[in-house]
Amino acid sequence: MVSFSRRDFLGKGIGCIGASLAVSNSWARATTSVFLNDPDIIIELTAKEVTRNIDPNTSAKFWSYVGKVIRGPKETLGPSNGSYLGPTIEVKTGDRVKIIFKNSLPEKSIIHWHGLDVDHKNDGHPSLAINPNGEYVYDFVVENRAGMYWYHPHPHGRTGFQVYQGLAGLFIVRDRVEESLNLPNKEQELRFVVQDRFFNDQGELEYRPSMMGAFGDKLLINGKLERKIKVKKGLYRIRLLNGCNARVFNLALSHGEEIKQIGSDGGLLEKTNKLTNFFFAPAERVDIVVDFSAYSEGEVITLEGLPLVEGRGKKYSVVEFEVTNEVGQSFSEPTGLAAYKRILPQEATNFSNPKVFELVPKRGLGWTINGHGYEPNAFEDNEIIKFGDTEVWEFYNPTGMPHPMHIHGTQFQVLKRLPGQLTGCLDSGWKDTILVMPGDRVQVLKRFNTYKGIFLYHCHNLEHEDMSMMRNFKII
Ligand code: C2O
Ligand code: CU
Ligand code: CU
Repeated sequence: MVSFSRRDFLGKGIGCIGASLAVSNSWARATTSVFLNDPDIIIELTAKEVTRNIDPNTSAKFWSYVGKVIRGPKETLGPSNGSYLGPTIEVKTGDRVKIIFKNSLPEKSIIHWHGLDVDHKNDGHPSLAINPNGEYVYDFVVENRAGMYWYHPHPHGRTGFQVYQGLAGLFIVRDRVEESLNLPNKEQELRFVVQDRFFNDQGELEYRPSMMGAFGDKLLINGKLERKIKVKKGLYRIRLLNGCNARVFNLALSHGEEIKQIGSDGGLLEKTNKLTNFFFAPAERVDIVVDFSAYSEGEVITLEGLPLVEGRGKKYSVVEFEVTNEVGQSFSEPTGLAAYKRILPQEATNFSNPKVFELVPKRGLGWTINGHGYEPNAFEDNEIIKFGDTEVWEFYNPTGMPHPMHIHGTQFQVLKRLPGQLTGCLDSGWKDTILVMPGDRVQVLKRFNTYKGIFLYHCHNLEHEDMSMMRNFKII
């Protein structure tokens, strides 16, 4: 059984989390390079308006991240396949990455690396947003374990609009533990960014925000309307990001197939988690394996969207997998995955007195957390945290709408959930976004032990976020 410790990967460089003079964690590089400070990878990402096809005959204007590798393996940036989505960035734990962001948009922007544990100046905080034609340089060591993270803009009040315009991309981290597991890879590892969009009569993208969020009537996978995928007979790893601004899915496999979840926001679980269906909220990621080997040629297995509340609405298809007669590479279902230490409730300084964050609307503000909207420079008492502490945070949702709550910084774990009317949220493993359904009380355990500074927590319904359901916290 492979066990994984964070230090395994962090220990290679100078082994100091949060050091401002972090050197490359790649041993070879650190020992051969004269300049210990050289990044392993340098890429450039330019945000700009583009025209992209969503099917062979239909194009529209989008905003997109266009990337180029300046140093490091060419494969660091995946192919765009003509999609408006930004290139998939793929790196290893321990890589030191420098990213030059160029803003060629007509408004301010900044990029946030969702799920990555980086310091304040690399976190894409709205206060760091740059003007049109400006440039922002990120430089950080990837300390997260293997997982599927992502990146998107984070300017205050405009995140929803900019993401809707197309600005988003995947950020894949690999590590040795994952490599040792012989999980399905290459062709048999699929990554899907699921998004909904509305195109008007002129065929152009139209952003229609409301208190509920911005929704679309069309579903896109990786920026395309085509949602039928041919698969070989074999085991597949399927990694999904809900890249919608506001839509929560309730996903299930047709054929009554059990869903085998192997990973969540912060990478692999300890062992496979079996589900019949699950809620999937904006910004959440899920990693599943599906075995297509027992199906016959031409059979279609569908990843379906069920109504959130049984009986209210029809089911619809999200992705369709059509089985071909080709036999894929053989992978066996993993038994053990990536072990990690659970955070013990007793570690939390406020174990018997959780910090409660109530998710409520307030007249004049829109959506709030404990009645407070976004204030760039103000902190409530419970938003000041001592560096090194572990805390229990409780999100309580007395409203009738789901609120996917995201906390920047380290990944956290769910301690417990008192469900309201609905069950089926993804609570296993390391999380950075947790769905709080109507009536739910969810307690999470989080360590604040990597960087001091100011970070955000907010609803990842992006219109809620922009309508003030966002706050800063400060680690001192
Ligand atoms: Cu994915 Cu603060 O955001
Ligand atoms: Cu984030
Ligand atoms: Cu919300």
